[in-house]
Amino acid sequence: MLDLLITNATLPDGRTGMSVAVQGGRIAEITQGLDAPAHETLDAQGLLLAPHFVDPHFHMDATLSYGLPRVNQSGTLLEGIALWGELKPLLTADALIERALAYCDWAVAKGLLAVRSHVDTSDPSLLAVDALLEVKRKVAPYLDLQLVAFPQDGVLRSPGGVENLERALDKGVDVVGGIPHFERTMAEGAASVKLLCEIAAARGKLVDMHCDESDDPLSRHIETLAFETQRLALQGRVTGSHCTSMHSMDNYYVSKLLPLIAQSGVSVVSNPLINITLQGRHDTYPKRRGMTRVPELMAAGVNVAFGHDCVMDPWYGMGSGDMLEVAHMGLHVAQMTSQDGIRQCFEAVTTNAARVMHLENYGLEAGRDASFVLLQARDPVEAIRLRAARLKVFRKGRLLAETPAATASLHLPGRGASTSWMAPKRQG
Ligand code: FE2
Repeated sequence: MLDLLITNATLPDGRTGMSVAVQGGRIAEITQGLDAPAHETLDAQGLLLAPHFVDPHFHMDATLSYGLPRVNQSGTLLEGIALWGELKPLLTADALIERALAYCDWAVAKGLLAVRSHVDTSDPSLLAVDALLEVKRKVAPYLDLQLVAFPQDGVLRSPGGVENLERALDKGVDVVGGIPHFERTMAEGAASVKLLCEIAAARGKLVDMHCDESDDPLSRHIETLAFETQRLALQGRVTGSHCTSMHSMDNYYVSKLLPLIAQSGVSVVSNPLINITLQGRHDTYPKRRGMTRVPELMAAGVNVAFGHDCVMDPWYGMGSGDMLEVAHMGLHVAQMTSQDGIRQCFEAVTTNAARVMHLENYGLEAGRDASFVLLQARDPVEAIRLRAARLKVFRKGRLLAETPAATASLHLPGRGASTSWMAPKRQG
């Protein structure tokens, strides 16, 4: 007897009429038209069953703090960093934990069940580190929270930066972070990349650095990150986040850089909502988009994922934990509007992001965790277009969240009462 049998589901790869059998929290079988006894059955009615969403880049220590102690007036990255510096002395562990847990509730409701969050290690008290480790423990039954030791003020630039970061790792933070473009000089930035990769190699940790989050075409720390990845045999274990300077780089240089990144197995995480908001701020007109070269990186064979980065914090006053909104913005900014391009953007918030986080047992395959989302859409393209309702969210076979289908009741003159579901016809 199965625990759960889902029938008549459409999968992201286009297979229809699929049954997903769940036993002991795992997918026992995926096949067409399976009929087997189960404690629970769910008719998906031809709708999309997708693996859960994954956010590979977030800042949970700052989330939901918008307006504390004031709002970012210029809207720039640098005022955001300054504002975070003003907020840090006012942070309490309890308030931080409360906000983070509230965000995790939003995330689960949106089918987002794995988040990689950077946590600022600049403050020697490591208050935010302890608080997020506590959050990680609390949410573990329903959300995978992976933490990155992030020296926001620069690991070399700030006193005690290296020691604080190492202490955070000792406490159980999972990943080594960095911010080379915020160090005092290019040379110091490169030195920080080398040092942090060596720390990761020695400790057997993954690496995820904020890398070249600027419009400066000469900010080339991604090159050093890729080189150090190869030198230390960290292939497949390293991520460069943001990489927005690549947008403004010389094309010849990029033609040399792309194969280096691909060969080093470095993943790139772009953050479309934040990049389109913060980059190009100092331009008059035309204004740069500033997001990294997503389709070109993908074409070169690089694993590219999209992150949310911020929700209602010193850098960004919008957001709701909806990775479909992230994918929606990503495909617009990258002009990935072909059917293939849109599907790649869906993968950027699901399978590609899971690869960044090294999530084991992720994906719709027999033997993997039964962690998936039933969406009010018939395929990934429609899911992004509608930011479709997450009708059911399952983790390891357990129902975690339900949202009613979005349906409008219409009262149109001359038409009588009717209802409108936003997706009446199959696309394509
Ligand atoms: Fe970030």
